[in-house]
Amino acid sequence: METIHTVAWMKHVAAEARRQDRVIGLVPTMGALHEGHLSLVRAAQKQCSPVVVSIFVNPKQFGPAEDFQKYPRTLEADCRSLEQHGVDYLFAPSPEEIYPAAFRTAVVVEGLSERLEGRLRPGHFRGVTTIVLKLLEIAQPRLAFFGRKDAQQVRIIRQMALDLNLDAEIVVCPIVRESDGLALSSRNAYLRGADRQAATVLYRSLDAVRRAIVAGERNPAYLLMALRQVIASERAVTLDYAEFVDADTFEPVVALRKASYVLIAARVGQTRLIDNALLEPAAESLNVTL
Ligand code: PAJ
Repeated sequence: METIHTVAWMKHVAAEARRQDRVIGLVPTMGALHEGHLSLVRAAQKQCSPVVVSIFVNPKQFGPAEDFQKYPRTLEADCRSLEQHGVDYLFAPSPEEIYPAAFRTAVVVEGLSERLEGRLRPGHFRGVTTIVLKLLEIAQPRLAFFGRKDAQQVRIIRQMALDLNLDAEIVVCPIVRESDGLALSSRNAYLRGADRQAATVLYRSLDAVRRAIVAGERNPAYLLMALRQVIASERAVTLDYAEFVDADTFEPVVALRKASYVLIAARVGQTRLIDNALLEPAAESLNVTL
């Protein structure tokens, strides 16, 4: 694996690979790599060569009161893990390399960026789309891989790719979970002792929705009550939002006729976690994917 720190060299390597008609796959991350990230790497390796993984803790997507300073940074271990997985290039630029002092541009996907995560984290998605567009321009991938764990993020990135006629195809990969259901996240490193156990309540609440659906319940209002009841059973957990939204518009739905998501965000002590389930109507039933 070659580690690249500059934009110029990454662009050069990408241009050379493109000239040879190779299919570049990009996996953008903020590091502190876990099995969720590695599942994206494996998906990329199935379809692409070379595979580029980027590690950049993007200051522009953190709010002033958020955890940018203390966000876990484990570059050495990440490097070893990517090396072991046979990744071709690690792109790990410095903040100054990505945002020189004179930097002035931002990319905003309107509407979609203002609800849910965007409402509670103003400017977050503006930071995400700005860095992702830059990474796509720098690494020139044919395919770029994202996790469904951040369902709103990938929906917004897809919209940006469509609106700006980007070349890259945006590929969405399933959520990787711990054996007790907790969705893997770099922020799980903050969870200690009882908080780690309490954090499984996000999964348990989504599973309660799944079980109610299997039992025949279809009314989002009732399903939300079942979800909230489970969340309320953990006193250490505060719900930021729980909503059924259309998978395309991310607007609230009152009936589950089209593909939709149940999205939840909650705080466990100081740690903010998100999770979701995908609901897809099938012939006679409603498929629920956690
Ligand atoms: P990060 O949180 O490091 O996540 C990088 C990618 O891994 C994202 O596409 C995310 O959805 C995916 N991912 C995280 N946990 C996952 C899990 N449990 N299962 C499957 N995929 C998972 O998301 C970001 O970084 C940043 O916003 C980024 C897109 C890199 C822009 O800075």
